[in-house]
Amino acid sequence: MSKTRLKIPEHIAPYLVAEYCDDFPLARYFVSKTQIEIIEDVLRAQEVKEKLVKYGVYYLNSTLLYGVPGTGKTTFGRYMAYYFDLDFVYINFAKLFDGVFGKTAGVISDIFQYMATSKAIFMLDEIDAISQKRGTESAATGGEISRITVTIMQELDLMKRKKVDAILIGCTNRIDIMDDALKSRFSIKKELKDLDNSEKQAYIQLVLNDMGIAYDINNLRTYCARNNSLTQRAIEFDIQRCLIRWIAAGEGTVPFELDHIREQTV
Ligand SMILES: Nc1ncnc2c1ncn2[C@@H]1O[C@H](COP(=O)(O)OP(=O)(O)OP(=O)(O)O)[C@@H](O)[C@H]1O
Ligand SMILES: [Mg+2]
Repeated sequence: MSKTRLKIPEHIAPYLVAEYCDDFPLARYFVSKTQIEIIEDVLRAQEVKEKLVKYGVYYLNSTLLYGVPGTGKTTFGRYMAYYFDLDFVYINFAKLFDGVFGKTAGVISDIFQYMATSKAIFMLDEIDAISQKRGTESAATGGEISRITVTIMQELDLMKRKKVDAILIGCTNRIDIMDDALKSRFSIKKELKDLDNSEKQAYIQLVLNDMGIAYDINNLRTYCARNNSLTQRAIEFDIQRCLIRWIAAGEGTVPFELDHIREQTV
């Protein structure tokens, strides 16, 4: 997924990772009801954007995805890029903040100006790292986070007044600490939750079918019923661990069995 059709300007290239997701692992990707709803919203907005301009309305296609770690926010951004056949441009705000401390606001303005003139899916990942509620910032960061939050809001407002083709996706697993004024600037806000039991089972079956592994449906039912708050990441780890155990036990000679081991709190 390293090829890209976009040319990122040199001065911002260190802070963005562009990918063309044509080899997205679709056969092992489960699309949930919530994800279908988000795609429909984003698609509809892209389709009517031109017509909205006739009414003097400029719509910025910006979605804020929130949810606990491992619920598939970042992966969903890649899936959307695949779905819309657009490049996926990834900006990790936690890394950006550490890398250019003291001049982050300037770099962010440059990035937003680039976004305003590009057609791609822009993933603003871990956006909470630079958008904590104003007034809650620790003295150690010297007001840098507040400056960045204000810059992002101004840049989003500027983008809203232009005809922009970019699709923005902000991601956070700490919506609780995000600045309210910044949150309110995203047109769509959606929580990605753990899958429900039937979705979990469908997801696991999709993966095992694609791997060509025979399973006992009752085993999967029991696994889903017993573990109703597992994220996609946790399920993925369970599949991998049980796969290792199954291979070590002789693969085809023993049945594949899925289980979950509760982690000790550290
Ligand atoms: N819909 C899905 N179908 C198949 N696998 C998925 C799906 N969603 C997530 N995964 C898998 O679950 C793992 C966690 O997903 P991801 O990293 O996107 O979560 P996240 O919400 O961005 O987590 P964090 O908040 O920690 O950044 C990934 O390895 C991904 O492959
Ligand atoms: Mg993520």
